[in-house]
Amino acid sequence: MEDLEVTHSSCFSHGITIKSTKGVRMMDNRSQWGTRLGFLLAAIGSAVGLGNIWRFPAVAYENGGGAFFLPYLFALLTAGIPLLIMEYTIGHKYRSSSPRSFSKVSKGMEWVGWWQVLIAFVISTYYPIIITWSGMYAYFSLRTQWGDDSTSFFLNDFLQLEEAGTFGSFVPMVLIPLIVVWALVFFFLGRGVKKGIEFANRIFIPALFIVFVIIVVRAVTLPGAFEGLDAFFKPDWSRIIDGSVWVAAYGQIFFSLSIAFAIMITYSSYLPKKSDISNNAFITGFANSSFELLAGIGVFAILGFMASQTGATIDDVVEGGVGLAFMVFPEIISQMPASGFFGFLFFASLFLAGITSMLSISETYIAGLQEKFSLSRGMAVLLGGGLSALISILYATQGGLNLLDTVDYFINNYGVALAGLFEVVAIAWFARLLKDLQGHADSVSDIKLGMWWRVCLSVITPVVLGFMLIQNLKNDLTNAYGDYPLDFLFNFGWLLAIGVMFIGTLLTIKKWPKKDHQA
Ligand code: PHE
Repeated sequence: MEDLEVTHSSCFSHGITIKSTKGVRMMDNRSQWGTRLGFLLAAIGSAVGLGNIWRFPAVAYENGGGAFFLPYLFALLTAGIPLLIMEYTIGHKYRSSSPRSFSKVSKGMEWVGWWQVLIAFVISTYYPIIITWSGMYAYFSLRTQWGDDSTSFFLNDFLQLEEAGTFGSFVPMVLIPLIVVWALVFFFLGRGVKKGIEFANRIFIPALFIVFVIIVVRAVTLPGAFEGLDAFFKPDWSRIIDGSVWVAAYGQIFFSLSIAFAIMITYSSYLPKKSDISNNAFITGFANSSFELLAGIGVFAILGFMASQTGATIDDVVEGGVGLAFMVFPEIISQMPASGFFGFLFFASLFLAGITSMLSISETYIAGLQEKFSLSRGMAVLLGGGLSALISILYATQGGLNLLDTVDYFINNYGVALAGLFEVVAIAWFARLLKDLQGHADSVSDIKLGMWWRVCLSVITPVVLGFMLIQNLKNDLTNAYGDYPLDFLFNFGWLLAIGVMFIGTLLTIKKWPKKDHQA
């Protein structure tokens, strides 16, 4: 391999081409982003997802409205951006997938990387389902096919929902478009980092931004919009002393910035050597939060319109997640002028935001598999993506929504809080690596890091994550999540969230190939 360069331009269509580099010792043939903007768009594409559109507005509203911005900003500056800088630095320094990067820090840490990769893997089994629903709803919008009762349409007509714990049969209206979504994902992943992922983000992220601005402009000019915005921004300062508000702020930042999911380490491992790190992290963080704010304005303007139409209060109509997007919004869309067009844009924006995040989640295990088992990129895409695709059809059954809701809740609440905690403690306290990483980041970045960065990561972030974990545990051990049967919660909630940690250790048994295999 020494003097050969292997390029997998597209493993699906072109196969593998082997070029001799005329005896020149192979330097570095790891995939790379084409441009700085390309990397930024991909990182922003990962961060900007469903969490921005349907999670942030509801979380902010429920946690003090305008007053929530204080803990939120605090969380962004003390945990979000510092961790992002840390992950970018690790990826850039070790130029490897997340498990390989951790193993280069210390052998004993490899499993933390696999654990995070497996969390990402689990997410990648259900994320495409939401993308599929969004795509179908963009289509349904054209003729407001949900009729008068959008909730019943979603649950009964579209998903044909069955009780939790039963899977029932496949729902063709979900399964068939799901296959199309996977085909799209395979296409971009198969084409590689630059020609696939970067290319997709270069088109989808600007498109998402344009579509969303149109939505927001339309939303704020609707009657009643102002009341919605007023409810959203009105600060309830009394909430600020409530610990759970702070936990919600940190939780939102972690989820929204895609940190502690192995994603940002993987993406930054494709950065060219001369790349700014800290500045890129600030840009990603602020771009993501700006989009969140924009989404909050759009969503609440629309909720204000709904309240004014039906005479309800904002409190009655506010929702987050699946309920907001597929039950409340369709109902509002029906009442709007040019409803088909507007609905199409809204669901298209969910689709675009989802697909760019999906590419980033999948890239974590593709990179890991490739390096661990010396696979070609095409093979890693086929194996990793194929397994995820196979599992994902479980969510295309009549029990799919309940399964998705449970898996999502547990994998996020425990997976991320716990895996994030292990990550910072391992790096800051066991490996004592922060000074070293700071030196690395400073050597390439415009913005130089100071003590504040190390304090944020070694003290503030672990304390908050630990607190968050205890709170979540207290909550879930005293109240069973949702109305689901306990054995269902045990299998698809607890067992899964804890199980991935152990499967992570199994993956460390096999040694890394001697030479980094990079394609
Ligand atoms: N950051 C994405 C969002 O805000 C969600 C996401 C979470 C993406 C985890 C990838 C992994 O929606």
